[in-house]
Amino acid sequence: LKAITVTIDDREVSGRPGTTILELAQEMGIKIPTLCHHPQLTPFGACRICLVEEENRGALLASCVTVIAPGMVINTYSPKVLEARRVIIKLMLASHPESCLVCEKGNRCQLRQIAADLGIGVLDYYKIPHYWDIEEVNPFIVRDLSKCILCGRCIRADHELVVQGAIDYQGRGFNSLPATLFDGPLESSTECTFCGTCVTVCPTGALQEKGRRTLTTPKRRVATVCPYCPDGCALWLEVSDGEVVRVNPRVEGSASGVTICVRGHYGLDFIQGRGRLTHPLIRDGEELREVSWEEALGYVAQSLLKIKGDQGGEAIGVLASGGLTNEEYYTIQRWARTVLKTNNIDTSTRLSTAPSQMALRDALGYGAMTSPIRDLEESGVMMVIGADPTISHPLIGYAIKRGVTHKGGKLIMIDSLDSDLKRFSHLLLSPRKGTELILLYGMIHQLIEQGRWDQRFVKKIEDFEGLCTYVQELSPDKVEELTGISPDLLMDVISLFDPGKRVGIIFGKGVTQAKNPYYLVAALVNLALVTGSIGREGGGIYPILGEANFQGAWDMGFVPELLPGHLDIDDAPVREEFERNWGEAIPIERGHTALEMIEAAKEKRIRGMVIFEEDPLTAFPAQEMVEKALRTLDFLVVSDLWPSPTTKLAHVVFPAASFAEKEGSFTSVERRVQRIQRGINPPGKALPAGAICSRLSEAMGFPLSLATPEEIAQSVPLYRGVVEGGGFWGGRNLYASGFPKKKARFIIPDMPLIREGREDEYPFYLNVGALLVHQGCGRDSIHSPRLAQMGGEGYVEMNLHDAETMDLCNGDEVFIRSSHGELRREVRIRADLPAGELFLPWALNERGWGRLFPLAIDPITKASPSKGCWVKLEEVKDVAG
Ligand code: SF4
Ligand code: SF4
Ligand code: SF4
Ligand code: FES
Repeated sequence: LKAITVTIDDREVSGRPGTTILELAQEMGIKIPTLCHHPQLTPFGACRICLVEEENRGALLASCVTVIAPGMVINTYSPKVLEARRVIIKLMLASHPESCLVCEKGNRCQLRQIAADLGIGVLDYYKIPHYWDIEEVNPFIVRDLSKCILCGRCIRADHELVVQGAIDYQGRGFNSLPATLFDGPLESSTECTFCGTCVTVCPTGALQEKGRRTLTTPKRRVATVCPYCPDGCALWLEVSDGEVVRVNPRVEGSASGVTICVRGHYGLDFIQGRGRLTHPLIRDGEELREVSWEEALGYVAQSLLKIKGDQGGEAIGVLASGGLTNEEYYTIQRWARTVLKTNNIDTSTRLSTAPSQMALRDALGYGAMTSPIRDLEESGVMMVIGADPTISHPLIGYAIKRGVTHKGGKLIMIDSLDSDLKRFSHLLLSPRKGTELILLYGMIHQLIEQGRWDQRFVKKIEDFEGLCTYVQELSPDKVEELTGISPDLLMDVISLFDPGKRVGIIFGKGVTQAKNPYYLVAALVNLALVTGSIGREGGGIYPILGEANFQGAWDMGFVPELLPGHLDIDDAPVREEFERNWGEAIPIERGHTALEMIEAAKEKRIRGMVIFEEDPLTAFPAQEMVEKALRTLDFLVVSDLWPSPTTKLAHVVFPAASFAEKEGSFTSVERRVQRIQRGINPPGKALPAGAICSRLSEAMGFPLSLATPEEIAQSVPLYRGVVEGGGFWGGRNLYASGFPKKKARFIIPDMPLIREGREDEYPFYLNVGALLVHQGCGRDSIHSPRLAQMGGEGYVEMNLHDAETMDLCNGDEVFIRSSHGELRREVRIRADLPAGELFLPWALNERGWGRLFPLAIDPITKASPSKGCWVKLEEVKDVAG
């Protein structure tokens, strides 16, 4: 297309056709004031403050919505332009309350900035009262719509970016407002997720954050990354007087832009939540008493050396959450392997992430998401299975909704029927529980039968013949007999898979914490391979699992089976190279995984454990058994931010620093390596996990400093060039230039595709899952004063029909009984839950869900199914009454 030449402020300049005057002026470094315009939103042309003068016509044009035309002569700061802008701002101020001094927006208010730039001081217009009640019942957002200038940014952000539809225009003319349906307060809208995107983009104080500790402009802001889910939203921590006073999205170069979620935006007040551990503690009978670091470290060093001396390093286990930094994981696994001499190293995220990591690695080369989150929007077909991204990974939820709403993508949902995403879906499938593998292979069979597969791409994949043989018996009738999915519905699904359309496959804990999780993930990879959706733009495999830095834990070798860089510990030359670099021998025995450590502790094969920032008593299934195992240990040391059920059992407790109180890097779920930076000091004597490990190693006689990004890049080639720069390891699209082992392979299960029976004694299927306001089991989020206001007491949700059949009402109490254990919960009726299914949140009521599940360690992945189980309900009768 031919460039268009125009003159702006006496300079001749060319731009692409379709470029707006505003864009071209910005490229030239000319600043034109804007209010309704936002770079991430479609141009709107509502406020007119961006007016410029076109000399040929003598016209004033809104530069944000006017595209350049040949020969235009534009003045951006002529007297006529400035006068028009002054009038516009004065009209806005005439109906604006005079509350700047107490407005939370402070110096960030764009209306105030532009008025000042235009030299508007005292207003010489009559004031037009325009008062609205302030809404502030919810814990996060205050709406003071007297300050609204009707720029529409909030509505467009809500519709275009997070695609919620919680607010829209209401009323006409002067009384027009951004409002919820029926103009109720925000909290009355079931659609609002309190993501705060509207607050971020609002140019005035009409939308503000609630509960700020100060109205002053923060003295500093520190670039960091959200510590909740692994989407890796980039944040600014705004700091004043040693406190984080506000958190805002960091837009430049981030995956998140202005869209983060309620947890990252308003739930980081946990850092300054009450009750943080501030001093090392040593057990003294039933009590834990405060001691100095020297005493605590000396005692722990001696105790661990004694166990190592008496019973060998393999009698010690090291467990961590998925929330440490890469530098900490690297250092701690090195310490465990070279100083403690144990390969018993794992994170609690193994329970959900190991099946995905292992199957992806075996099939494609790396255990990791294949494509960036942004590319998901470009997928022709998106298939969500066993996941609710809107809750667990909101950034991915936004991308899916944008893909469907704005890019014409088709959404298939399998086994995720209680998700808000279902209102965006084209097909909903609910196969019988435990038959998902059959359904997936039934789909693959039909794609091959109907020639809807990518023949050129599949040539590059090993064992296509094996796949064809494996699925050959799965006719649509057979699939229906086993799964309950009718041939018509199956054909509808297949018809969406047009050859040439890339498929984005998103799966969650409903897959990886089910039975046979390795083969379920492998089937999803096979489906992606058959449709040619790997290594190309749009489409790919999107595991949505784990905590903020679970990917970093795998990358840094914080698992028994891998050394840093996803290298097999059984590979002798690899191991020897690490031994040379570290100057110490590494034990060759395969270590225990997280749950195996618990089993080994119960059987007294493990005698000492060191736990970093995890609470297995609430994060693991088989709660009673886990408690028994931890009580059996000779020595338990726990480093954490807060007291927990696990710290109550510890012999020594170390106070740990939060993500905001240390330096390092996290690797997001899309393999983006990003720095986290220290914004404030840790409370009391708390220290980062890496520093604790370093000092402990020194106390044991083996000085070991915290790994630097350079050291990591040295031993993990994948991280070269990305640790400082915030890039993706392996590139944006992991297999864009082929597979590391030259060929990928189809993994064929070594088991027949049969329907497993269910015990009729247990008629309900209980789904255990996260709430939007609580990440996973709520380890950090339950300490956020604001998020806690949305939590409340634990409950179980059930469908109205089921409740009526059992004569249960909202508020009645039931015993939930599985074949393993029981739990007591209040009933809440939820209309959109499928009949026969229940929902129990992980995070509430000391998270007692673990009592319902046994420890059933999967032989391949060492995970244990704990996302759902069959249960029966019994109403709690009021004995006293
Ligand atoms: S907080 Fe988020 S969901 Fe609620 S209205 Fe604002 S943009 Fe929409
Ligand atoms: S509330 Fe804020 S963003 Fe929304 S229309 Fe009013 S001024 Fe604009
Ligand atoms: S919890 Fe996840 S989606 Fe929400 S802000 Fe944090 S990283 Fe982003
Ligand atoms: S910024 Fe151009 S019309 Fe509002």
